[in-house]
Amino acid sequence: MLNLVIFGPPGSGKGTQGVKIAEKYSLEHVSTGDLLRNAIHNNTAEGMIAKSFIDKGELVPDDVIIDIMDVFMEKLPIDKGILFDGFPRTVAQAEALNGLLIDHGRSLSALLNLEVENEELIERLVLRGQTSGRSDDNEETIKKRLEVYEAQTLPVLDYYKKKGVYKSVKGVGDIEEIFTNICQVLDKVVEAEV
Ligand code: C5P
Ligand code: MG
Repeated sequence: MLNLVIFGPPGSGKGTQGVKIAEKYSLEHVSTGDLLRNAIHNNTAEGMIAKSFIDKGELVPDDVIIDIMDVFMEKLPIDKGILFDGFPRTVAQAEALNGLLIDHGRSLSALLNLEVENEELIERLVLRGQTSGRSDDNEETIKKRLEVYEAQTLPVLDYYKKKGVYKSVKGVGDIEEIFTNICQVLDKVVEAEV
C-alpha cells in the first residue's frame, strides 16, 4: 500500500497534481488546507482558530493540525493508501506523522517534492487569487506564506532526506508533462514496494 506526501511551496501544484496522483494510484487525497477551509466554512471551533492564522499567512498550531489528521486517519479503511497534501508543514508535524503512521499500521513510501521558483509561485498565486476567493491569495499574504514556507516548512525536506524517502520533480511547465514525470518516479516506488 502506498502512503505518500506531496510537498512543495504554496502554488507549486500540490492540489492539481494531487488529484491526478490520487486517481491513478487509488489513494485517499487529504488536503489539510481544504479540511481547514471546510472547518472555517462550517464555523467549527477548529475553524475559528485556523482562520486567524490562515488569514495572516501563518501556520495553524501543530497540535490542531495533528488532531485533525489523527481523526482523519482513524476513519479511513486500513487498506486504503493516503496522499498527504499540505501536511506535514513543520518538523514537529513530520515527527507526529511518523507516530500516526505507526499507530495506524502504515509507513511512508515516498515524499514527492515539486520544485518551482518563487517568482513563478507569486505569479501563479496572484492569478489564482482572482478566482479562488481565498483570503490568503493576495500579494501581501502570498509573500508571508513564502517566508513561512522557507523558515518552517523547508526543514521538513531534510527530515525525509535522512529517512531515504525523498523524491523530487520539476513542477514547471505543462500539467500533463509534470504528471508524466511524477508517474515515472512513483511507478518505481510502487515497484520497490512489492
Ligand atoms: O495547503 P494550503 O496552501 O491549502 O494551506 C493554506 C493555509 O492553511 C496555509 O497557508 C496555512 O495557513 C494553513 N495550513 C497550516 N498547516 C497545514 C496546512 C495548512 O497552517 N498543515
Ligand atoms: Mg492546496
